[in-house]
Amino acid sequence: MPGLPNMTETPSCLRICRNACLPEMYAMGPDDKLSCVSLPDAPLLRAARRESVPYTPVWLMRQAGRYLPEYRAMRERFGFLELCRNPEAAAEVTLQPVDRLGVDAAILFADILLIVEPLDVGLEFPRGEGPLIQRPLRDEAQIARLRPIDVASAVPFVFEAARRVKQALAGRVPLIGFAGAPFTVASYVVEGGASREYLHVKRLMYEEPEAWHRLMEILATATSRYLNGQIAAGADAVQIFDSWVGVLAADDYRTFVQPHMRTLIHALTPGVPVIHFGTGTAALLPLLRAAGGDVMGLDWRVDLDTAWASVGHDVAVQGNLDPAVLLAKPPYIRQRVKDILDRAGGRPGHIFNLGHGVLPATPVEHVRALVEIVHELSDRRVR
Ligand code: CP3
Repeated sequence: MPGLPNMTETPSCLRICRNACLPEMYAMGPDDKLSCVSLPDAPLLRAARRESVPYTPVWLMRQAGRYLPEYRAMRERFGFLELCRNPEAAAEVTLQPVDRLGVDAAILFADILLIVEPLDVGLEFPRGEGPLIQRPLRDEAQIARLRPIDVASAVPFVFEAARRVKQALAGRVPLIGFAGAPFTVASYVVEGGASREYLHVKRLMYEEPEAWHRLMEILATATSRYLNGQIAAGADAVQIFDSWVGVLAADDYRTFVQPHMRTLIHALTPGVPVIHFGTGTAALLPLLRAAGGDVMGLDWRVDLDTAWASVGHDVAVQGNLDPAVLLAKPPYIRQRVKDILDRAGGRPGHIFNLGHGVLPATPVEHVRALVEIVHELSDRRVR
């Protein structure tokens, strides 16, 4: 191919974007300038497809959030829901960590609970606390009255934020869209907020399975529309957060959750990688994998190599540093990153991430150091 750059030089496109393409991805643009072929060659998307990458891509769940002073400054001006409903502000918050950290993806700033607002359950985010549902759904009669969720009219601001982010990113890094999995979203609307034991959820599942399945169907349908809307607005990949599914017995997952996850994932726009994430899922991973997804999210309670073997090497994995490790200083962070990269063994299909979201008490410099360390230790480019 004519015009390929010498690998010892930094191609000019690296000054424009961070995709750090492999030589076979370089192309001459119409104006004879070197440019990347297209965003699909971004390391994150290549890793999701288990293709070779110049270095292990890294992004962090909750990379936009309270540990960032610029996020806290935005929160002085806007309430949390107000921020989510304001596309300009939400786009700005989405871009903050991309500019500050050098991560390989942006994740849209929004929340998994926004789509339940039309159910009239009274969603609130009281200051300093998790979500609160004023009128939780606890029985068959309440669930029987629910109407399907009209996603387009419920969350137009999320789609508008995605369009703005895409435009501002101008191909620098891919945009990840996201939604909660029906089980995790149901856990909030049934429990009324965060929970330790999920007793209302489990009682509903066991005692009123028809009502449970109806609720899951309503949420799965809305979630597929929500994710497809984000994809239509420009999301290059999507992550489904089943954050609390680890509280279930394997058999209960199979009966009460897996069919809905299958339906949901099958309804998503083909060709867009799906990251399927949960925590506390060591014993459930093969079942989550069977439900679907191109990339399986791993929390920090599992060894990456063992967990990858349990889901099969024909699927990509994402994870799995304990978020608390970022409270320690960079030399220690380095050891732990090295261990995870060693366990990934250079196999194609690893996206580096934490095992769950960045903790609010995390020093920003440690997060920046993490991204640099992952890029440095995993660099496969010839020098
Ligand atoms: O990852 C990102 O940077 C994108 C933004 C994002 C938020 N919520 C913003 C947010 C994402 C991906 C979510 C997903 C989400 N929301 C999940 C799944 C991920 C997980 O953590 O397991 C869940 C369970 C929720 C529901 C939710 N929203 C909770 C439990 C909380 C409170 C907990 C907390 O961290 O404060 C929220 C509020 C929320 N969502 C905040 C942010 C930045 C903090 C709100 C604030 O500014 O006070």
